[in-house]
Amino acid sequence: MASLTIRKLDDAVKAYLRLRSAGNGRSVEEEVRVILGELVQGRPDPAAPTAAMAPPADGPAGPSARSHAAAQASVTLIIGGGIAAFKSLELIRRLKERHVDVRCVLTKAAQQFVTPLSASALSHERVYTDLFDPGSEFDAGHIRLARECDLIVVAPATADLMAKMAHGHADDLASAILLAANKPILLAPAMNPLMWNNPATRRNVLQLRRDGVIMIGPAAGEMAEANEAGVGRMSEAVEIAAAAVDILRPPRPRPLAGKRVLITAGPTHEPIDPVRYIANRSSGKQGFAIAAAAQAAGADVTLVSGPVELRDPAGVSVIRVESARDMLHRVEAALPADIAIFAAAVADWRVANEGEQKLKKTAAGMPPLQLVENPDILATISKLGERRPPLVIGFAAETEHLIDNAKAKIARKGCDWIVANDVSPASGVMGGDRNTVHLLQRDGKEVGVDEIKVDSWPVMTKEQVAAELVARIAKSLEKNS
Ligand code: CTP
Repeated sequence: MASLTIRKLDDAVKAYLRLRSAGNGRSVEEEVRVILGELVQGRPDPAAPTAAMAPPADGPAGPSARSHAAAQASVTLIIGGGIAAFKSLELIRRLKERHVDVRCVLTKAAQQFVTPLSASALSHERVYTDLFDPGSEFDAGHIRLARECDLIVVAPATADLMAKMAHGHADDLASAILLAANKPILLAPAMNPLMWNNPATRRNVLQLRRDGVIMIGPAAGEMAEANEAGVGRMSEAVEIAAAAVDILRPPRPRPLAGKRVLITAGPTHEPIDPVRYIANRSSGKQGFAIAAAAQAAGADVTLVSGPVELRDPAGVSVIRVESARDMLHRVEAALPADIAIFAAAVADWRVANEGEQKLKKTAAGMPPLQLVENPDILATISKLGERRPPLVIGFAAETEHLIDNAKAKIARKGCDWIVANDVSPASGVMGGDRNTVHLLQRDGKEVGVDEIKVDSWPVMTKEQVAAELVARIAKSLEKNS
């Protein structure tokens, strides 16, 4: 059988093979084998830049010839003319690693730094360079390049390209695409620090930001010019790729958008005298995790917390309290709410004869502490008339007969759901990061104890419990809407 000597192939084919194999992390020989194998199987290689390398003889291969992977996001990458253009080749790889299709446009100046062949081999796509290219402009290719993508990235965005954009020029392919765009535009500026700080560039940057253009960088550092440093270096390829993916990522679902959620968390401190108090071991972690999860789901969250050593979850209004009575007062003031979740470990009793001064040791022995019951916040809110939140969820911290005690609690307190957990010392729940819970649900007030649904969850982190609880709440809202 005949053998193929790669050395003897045409120079352009060799260059293509070298770039393509480097792009795919294979040897040149392996790459040839892959290409031949796919040809024999009649399966077009999605990685093959056929349009770029060999436009079909019977018609031009414009952007319309591109096959779109349905679910894959796509970026039109405009490479401007600057020394940072070499980083844009790495950017192509970083985007492709993140499953983003990349179609490159090189300005005339960019071709002084990188070749269309390298961009094509790495992107596995035809590369576009010319506004008046009959191969792509037969069907207004620049409009397609601007619109048939999810995002346009300009890297490096030179001072000249930015000036053109700010003033609406369209005298080459890159500026025409940018003017015709109806997709978000991400710029990665790169230029000498004096150019970046020039008042003309400052004006253009301001204008572009006002026009809704997103920018990443430039960073500070050494310049290509000897002994020059300052702000003007293009951001690294990984940073630009991460910024692009952030823009491309579909918005997070916000099933609790428009809902007001009220949450209690942590222990309460019940004063004995000005320096001593009764407390419990609650860390507040579960309540804080629920607040963060509800906020992430789009809710407007108020968290009333006893004394804990936790940071306020972002975007949540946190009200810090000490005693059970303070907590009740602040919870009532925070109504109305659509959903109320009572995760606090409220002290059941407080000291009736609280000392105004520090209690002293006396010959008479220990001072007697008289305890009185604290208000039950969950029961109070569950039994409110009109102001009762439509969904009230309590917690049941038990050390024995978990389900039976939790069922009795749901009935006694009048809430809709209870999250029951075993808090015996062996469980490690108090202060720990994991929780094993059972969700008890009753749909109507008149449901008997036997009809309460019990759903036991596997051991989870407190964040996972929070996310699952928020998902259940969202589902029940959807069912009742
Ligand atoms: N709870 C409350 N106010 C109180 C006591 C408890 O809001 N004064 C709430 C808790 O936040 C929790 C639920 O009631 O959602 C159950 O708390 P738990 O400590 O398990 O039960 P207790 O009511 O204290 O009953 P017991 O101590 O008998 O188990």
